[in-house]
Amino acid sequence: MIRINENYLKLKASYLFSDIAKRIATYQEANPDSSIIKLGIGDVTEPLPETCRVAFHAAIDEMGTHAGFHGYGPEQGYAFLREAIAANDFQSRGADISADEVFVSDGAKCDSGNFQEIFADNIKIAVPDPMYPVYVDTNVMAGRTGENVNDRYEGFVYLESTPENGYVPTIPSEPVDLVYLCFPNNPTGAAATREQLTAWVDYAKASGALILFDAAYAGFVRDESLPQSIYEIEGAKEVAIEFRSFSKNAGFTGTRCAYTIVPKDLKAEDSSGAMHSVHALWNRRHCTKFNGVSYPVQKAAEAVYSDAGKAEVKALTDFYLANAKIVRSEIESLGLSCVGGDNSPYVWINANRPSWDFFDTLLNEAGVACTPGAGFGSCGEGHIRISAFNSRSNVEEAMKRIRSALAEGSVGV
Ligand code: MLT
Repeated sequence: MIRINENYLKLKASYLFSDIAKRIATYQEANPDSSIIKLGIGDVTEPLPETCRVAFHAAIDEMGTHAGFHGYGPEQGYAFLREAIAANDFQSRGADISADEVFVSDGAKCDSGNFQEIFADNIKIAVPDPMYPVYVDTNVMAGRTGENVNDRYEGFVYLESTPENGYVPTIPSEPVDLVYLCFPNNPTGAAATREQLTAWVDYAKASGALILFDAAYAGFVRDESLPQSIYEIEGAKEVAIEFRSFSKNAGFTGTRCAYTIVPKDLKAEDSSGAMHSVHALWNRRHCTKFNGVSYPVQKAAEAVYSDAGKAEVKALTDFYLANAKIVRSEIESLGLSCVGGDNSPYVWINANRPSWDFFDTLLNEAGVACTPGAGFGSCGEGHIRISAFNSRSNVEEAMKRIRSALAEGSVGV
């Protein structure tokens, strides 16, 4: 009889956002007339920028001609997109990243989940708490942990992000091999300063650890003193991989395009102590398991870097940031403390009660879906995350409903 990978049995029954979707569907079935406003999963709602659509259409038309037809493209992405990424997202900010260090893919979720595959089974891994659940679940699937005890897997080092450290975890006292960091952070919305990231890079250099840096929300950074990429920090090219996405800044959640930077300077050792290029290993894995993002999608992504594309992306991210500002000020005016929303589309709210209870309350009493903090790790208990990805009218209506639900006293603050 075929046997299963029993590591899967250690996972929670379902993925966080599937769990939430099920609860929403159950509520909707029981209340068919209720119009639920979804401020849970960070899925964009505004249309694709016009510049991207025009490029997308033109590429599809090209595909309809013999001269412009494209079959399999390079697994790593077309040079036109890799060059635009390197020049605009890195070199323009003083980060020395070249086009051949860019691996274009169909999502930062897949890349941040898959990257662990090229490392040994018995490495020590540090994950933030709260965290994007993909970091933890993929390592559980790979067998790098023991059981889940009190909402934490045996074997991980948990890096706590709390109000005391401004939601930027402090460096662990015990040695680790692989560290996941995410800034601007999902779920807390916190951004790391140059000094804080420098401390992490220095730690990694001194200890031999490697940092997997998730910068999927870099496009929302407005404070110019904050780094958008870890490669703005000196020495990061020797110790860090970075994940980026077009999903949230350019509205590509349904279009699918992202990229990962794997610097050529980065090395990791085998069991004999011999050093190997991480770039070469990832390239090997990428070519074996991935056949590239479609030509029209890469042309649409390239358009993000035109002058008009940049202006549209800035307007889109400004729009969601303005939503976040509304959420934050409304929630604060209700007497609940919160962080995030200024360099990030997420507002992290101290709910002062169990987070799934507050989730259920907001769903049942206000018809608003959020994300319970406990779903992101035990430090998320007592919090909820509200996403700014929705129309202005829905955000305003959601805040009105929450205000009246709380004011009615059934869910007093
Ligand atoms: C989130 O809501 O945390 C994200 O949308 C999930 C994702 O990007 O996969």
